[in-house]
Amino acid sequence: MVPSTAVYVAAVPISVIVALGLLRKWRSRKWATCASNTCLRGKTFLITGANCGIGYETAKTIVRRKGRVIFACRDIVKAKEAIANIRKEQPNGGEMIPMQLDLASFESIENFVEVVKKGFNKIDVLINNAGVVVPLNQDLKTKEGFEIHFGVNHLGHFYLTNLLLDHLKRATPSRIVVLSSTLHERGKIDFDDLNLRKQIEEAKKRGGSPRHNPGYCNSKLMNAYFAKGLACNLRNTGIDVNMVCPGFCATNLFRHSIKWYHYILMAPILIAFMKTAKQGSETVVFCATDHSIEGKTGKFYRDCEEYTSKHEFDKEVEAKLWSVSEELVKARKPL
Ligand SMILES: NC(=O)c1ccc[n+]([C@@H]2O[C@H](COP(=O)([O-])OP(=O)(O)OC[C@H]3O[C@@H](n4cnc5c(N)ncnc54)[C@H](OP(=O)(O)O)[C@@H]3O)[C@@H](O)[C@H]2O)c1
Repeated sequence: MVPSTAVYVAAVPISVIVALGLLRKWRSRKWATCASNTCLRGKTFLITGANCGIGYETAKTIVRRKGRVIFACRDIVKAKEAIANIRKEQPNGGEMIPMQLDLASFESIENFVEVVKKGFNKIDVLINNAGVVVPLNQDLKTKEGFEIHFGVNHLGHFYLTNLLLDHLKRATPSRIVVLSSTLHERGKIDFDDLNLRKQIEEAKKRGGSPRHNPGYCNSKLMNAYFAKGLACNLRNTGIDVNMVCPGFCATNLFRHSIKWYHYILMAPILIAFMKTAKQGSETVVFCATDHSIEGKTGKFYRDCEEYTSKHEFDKEVEAKLWSVSEELVKARKPL
């Protein structure tokens, strides 16, 4: 006979796992999948940060549907590895091209665009997916000296997109998909301190960032302002610009903030609430390919549906962020 304590010892973790599984199943009923499955042959998709996470899963789906994907990645070796993995699974999928792009360097962005322009006559869909989250106390900066979230997540994509507009115009109807996050609702744009000097100094004294990293949240708000401003500027040109929140997904995004033991402590939350990268990519693929939203622009999507942001967007802030970003790109240093 099995001793009763052994039964209890086994029953508790099993019940917890079953409960978490049921909770996940209940939550996932709202996690939409992109129903669109049309052939994408002849279309060129450019995805920043396609070597892992949501960008990788987005690329994989597009390749399965025969689209051509430019993997615009910081590390060309990782881009080639990602491509080799997809090719193994999908020997007959679309073409994949690895290219080096470091969004933390204006020179790298310019070199990248030059190579794209030489190699391709149009881009059908640009997916601004790459992103970083780094604790503020690490005080990381881009090559030009911008705070890392502001520099990579916002300014790098701002510059890249503007340099590629002619190529997107040649492919109309074309699309730009901007990966933001509902965390933009926690963001604030302080034009007197875009590089967060005050908050970085406080974080250094405290030895860490606040729970919701203000650098990241602000940059996701800037992504949303940029997408809205761009959608407005490009109205009636045949280029649609939309924003996506993929949801809370298990990816490498928090690699700088999360230690190994956090995974153990947070395992129940991760199991019950986190999407996989593939589940997170569904709305990105929807915004990049679904015919039902052709002509819709300046919208925020979550779970393949329009999402109404709780943030009160202000046209003056939108215009100011645009002009300040242009000025900073021109100056190539924080002013
Ligand atoms: N995961 C979530 O819960 C979540 C929620 C809301 C929004 N998002 C957004 O979804 C997007 C994708 O994130 P993810 O979760 O898939 O994260 P991830 O797995 O960490 O992927 C991020 C990608 O961005 C690339 N990247 C970082 N810095 C770069 C730079 N300077 N130049 C070029 N590429 C760079 C990374 O390249 P390396 O591999 O070389 O570092 C990686 O390929 C991000 O914009 C993020 O803000 C994610």
